[in-house]
Amino acid sequence: MDRFVIRGGVPLAGSVTPSGSKNAVLALMAASLLAEGDVVLENTPGVRDLQTMIRILKRLGVDAGWESSGTVRVQAAEPSSVEAPYELVRTMRASFMVLGPLIARCGHARVSLPGGCGIGARPVDQHLKGLRALGAKVELTGGYVEAHADRLRGTHLVFDVPTVTGTQNVLMAACLAEGTTILENVALEPEVTELCTVLTGMGACIRGTGTARLEVEGVSRLSGVRHRVVADRIEAATLLVAAAVTGGDVEVRGAEPGHLDAVLDKIREAGAEVTVSEGGIRLRAGARASGTRINTAPYPGFPTDMQAQMMVLLALAEGPSVVTETVFENRFMHVPELRRMGARITVDGRTAVIEGVPFLSGAPVMATDLRASASLVLAGLASRGETNVLRVYHIDRGYHQIEQKLSSLGGRIRRVRD
Ligand code: UD1
Repeated sequence: MDRFVIRGGVPLAGSVTPSGSKNAVLALMAASLLAEGDVVLENTPGVRDLQTMIRILKRLGVDAGWESSGTVRVQAAEPSSVEAPYELVRTMRASFMVLGPLIARCGHARVSLPGGCGIGARPVDQHLKGLRALGAKVELTGGYVEAHADRLRGTHLVFDVPTVTGTQNVLMAACLAEGTTILENVALEPEVTELCTVLTGMGACIRGTGTARLEVEGVSRLSGVRHRVVADRIEAATLLVAAAVTGGDVEVRGAEPGHLDAVLDKIREAGAEVTVSEGGIRLRAGARASGTRINTAPYPGFPTDMQAQMMVLLALAEGPSVVTETVFENRFMHVPELRRMGARITVDGRTAVIEGVPFLSGAPVMATDLRASASLVLAGLASRGETNVLRVYHIDRGYHQIEQKLSSLGGRIRRVRD
């Protein structure tokens, strides 16, 4: 198992380009199941979750793989299987997104239920509610969702909660349904918007892209498309916070600043200078961060996927901070590890109260999930002494060669294969 060995204390400096968006590309690969022609996705990150999605598509009898570095090609001319098995789905919840496209395209799907997850129960009731509303007969048997529909029919659905992958799953299915589907209270995350854009490029008829109400006019077939995936907004924000916690000066290139408004606001509130130009987003850290209040929320609110990383900055800030996690019920698993590095954080339910300390100290720490791992790496870079981050396979799920990007900025971080 790999670990990162980090010697903290170097202010990061220079410029860096994040990889393409992992979450966007996972949905786009699921969407490729709808297309009769080739779907080619450029600027695709070489992360482990993507390999998992490639394996799932292959299990469905689809030709999927890397055409070249950074480019994935999916040829779903005729999926020969409709089953996404437990052993793959349990390793990555986003695999559940093949359900909607499979029913729409093949009339039948058998997809393992993803089960719980470290950060919360993460139900899929909204995905199923949407597919049922589209006319699919959905049964739960032996840990699997079995769904049938000769042809889905348009419907009017209001999501109980704005769910990202739930919106994407139902939206993809609606594209091949007969008639008009209206989806309300959909998630507004940029990954949903990007999916709408790509589906439209495939021949889907979607109105309301970027709003909370999508109107889909079903079509009978979709064709292939070539698309360049947008930069990963969470990786971009993670690199900016890495600059902030080390007292650095870093420009992140190629990211879409409009996707990061809530994060940039909070970084500024904490005292760093952030400027946006054509070249990128530049962060110059101030003397010492100041405490602030953060509530995670669906987009355009502060992303839950940045909560753990931001907490490192607040752990080092002058004055107290309060972080409330409203999206997932158990997303403070980084807190005990940060405490071992000297952070003063108490958790009560969904709220963490942070008393800033002047410095953190290196320690061996354990990565528990993707974003928690990223926060430990940032804490290591900001600490005095050496930090070993164990179980970095979590971080490899969603950050491509993060240690190389951080090293290129002067961070002393190396991967050790034990
Ligand atoms: C996606 C992202 C993940 C991010 C999350 C929230 C991908 C692959 N993953 O996950 O990185 O942390 O959005 O921004 O894009 N919910 C229900 N019923 C459902 C579905 C969701 O109650 O059927 C609840 C969840 O428990 C959670 C909230 O809705 O409280 C939002 O979750 P959701 O947007 O679905 O997260 P994911 O799509 O799984």
